[in-house]
Amino acid sequence: MTRIIVCRGCCCGTSRKVPTLDHDEQVRRLARITEVRITDCLDVCEQANVIVVQPSPAGRAAGGRPVWLGLVNQPEAIDDIATWIRAGGPGLAEPPDILALYISTPPRRTRKAPA
Ligand code: FES
Repeated sequence: MTRIIVCRGCCCGTSRKVPTLDHDEQVRRLARITEVRITDCLDVCEQANVIVVQPSPAGRAAGGRPVWLGLVNQPEAIDDIATWIRAGGPGLAEPPDILALYISTPPRRTRKAPA
């Protein structure tokens, strides 16, 4: 199963940093798609809200790697993430083109997504 890591640290998930989004609703919607794990700050606060999509075992076997998404601050982005995960997610399906706007490089210190 594809898993989604949702950053909820000092900036992600806060109305101070991203005042225009219902952060709790974002997590609820993601949890309707697949398993969600909340993590503390991933050290890319300038990209709040940060979400990491981890491949399923089949996706990982096919070469998929965790995909970092930054500035996920539009409710519609969750629909695009859902579409991608339902198609198989990393390693098994290309993300919808619109998600290219969010895909980011993880910080060097945390190249590997949180477990
Ligand atoms: S709080 Fe999410 S990257 Fe820092």
